[in-house]
Amino acid sequence: MSRRRTVLLTLGAAGVAIAVACAPGLAVAAPGDPGSPRYGHGADGAGDPYFPLAGNGGIDVLHYDLDLDYTPAPPAPAPMEGRLDGVATIDLVATADLDRFNLDLRGLTASEVTVGGKPMAFTQTDNELVITPRPKLKTGSQAQVVVTYGGTTIRPTDIEGALYGWVTTRDGAMVVSEPDGSATWFPVNDHPTDKSTYSFEITVPEGLVAVANGLPSAAPSTADGRTTWFWDAPDPMAAYLSTASVGDYVVNEYVAANGTPIFDAVDPSRLGAATADLALTSDMLVFFEELYGPYPFNSYGAIVDDDSVGYALETQTRSFFSRNAREGTIAHELAHQWMGDHVSPERWADIWLNEGWATYSTWMWNEHRDRATAGETFDEFMSLPADDPEWDFVVADPQPLGLFAGPVYDRGAATLHALRVKIGDDAFFELAQTWVERFGGGTASTQDFAGLAEEISGLDLEEFFDVWVYTPEKPVAW
Ligand code: TRP
Ligand code: ZN
Repeated sequence: MSRRRTVLLTLGAAGVAIAVACAPGLAVAAPGDPGSPRYGHGADGAGDPYFPLAGNGGIDVLHYDLDLDYTPAPPAPAPMEGRLDGVATIDLVATADLDRFNLDLRGLTASEVTVGGKPMAFTQTDNELVITPRPKLKTGSQAQVVVTYGGTTIRPTDIEGALYGWVTTRDGAMVVSEPDGSATWFPVNDHPTDKSTYSFEITVPEGLVAVANGLPSAAPSTADGRTTWFWDAPDPMAAYLSTASVGDYVVNEYVAANGTPIFDAVDPSRLGAATADLALTSDMLVFFEELYGPYPFNSYGAIVDDDSVGYALETQTRSFFSRNAREGTIAHELAHQWMGDHVSPERWADIWLNEGWATYSTWMWNEHRDRATAGETFDEFMSLPADDPEWDFVVADPQPLGLFAGPVYDRGAATLHALRVKIGDDAFFELAQTWVERFGGGTASTQDFAGLAEEISGLDLEEFFDVWVYTPEKPVAW
């Protein structure tokens, strides 16, 4: 459900309308065959300079219905490889006149593609599934695309070498796809500018639990030693926030103090350590609602797995913890639900708005818990000497390999604290809530944030943002 995709129609030489992109990634890459100059090929990327092949041009996905059948890796010493078979039913709208369009799909093989119920020609390259719809798709028309696909699952890594995407385990899969890993498990328009609703039907060996976003839509059903889990995620979601994690989980369902239904799934080996801190979730929901406004989704909960790597992801409505779910990380991932999930980055370069807000949220949570105040944490951060490499970093343009580097988190958080001191608490929290209200359900950029901060505070903040997020030096005056 993209809000920002618009395509201008202009008149070509022959007086025929041709689709013209008015922003990167909306493009139709080349005119189609000479017989029908109106139609063109959807671009192979959404136009994000950090990940040129992520997302696609010319389509806006409304809904993904993912029917997955999965068998995890057999016990060691067998290779860590699972088997995934899927049928993805994708409702989309053409945002250009298309004689061809792409979805992202990596490491899995499509065996059939239908559009409007009829088999269509398609090809696959490394990251792209290229579909030739007939009849061609006119701008604004809706189509249902069904992709039957499957393959061996591995443990994919992102450009930094960190595990992500559909990560095969012995007892299931950890499914954590930021920034561009969704293509390792379903055909997808993998960019935050295209948010969609999701539903899932996930069949796994009996005894395993499959946990996705949102809420169960039906009771699990078992036949012939396999159990199918049903999930429905009706809140618009960026693809990187979707999950369908599988494991030997213990389920805990309850309703938090703010009324949000909680579904936690915890690996039995992590029960003691994780559940103590997870019990803080209810209080945290109340705390962050006071700061940022109503919790934006229909449900929440945690998936806690038992992998050896320790990381966490703010998967929408269901944060994922690969091993440890400790208080600070639980607060960080919960705050992301407002900051990152409901309001998502317009381009990956805007990632500091996700990580800075989530980190600053833990500073404020710590203050709430009578530990260091946010001001003390800020002062400690600012005690880093000017020649510390931490400062040699442009927060608002971190480059693909710097997306999750320390300064994106710490300097991002310090930026927000410095802004709070500059514009005052009233304006700062009005800014936070207006940010969520105005851009929630979609995406926003650093420029959007600076603009809103100026609008609400009435101050000229050009120098402030210049010093804090665009200059690779320690801020001294702002
Ligand atoms: N956004 C995560 C956090 O700070 C970090 C992260 C980035 C991540 N990419 C990931 C975690 C992939 C797991 C998998 O909360
Ligand atoms: Zn984070």
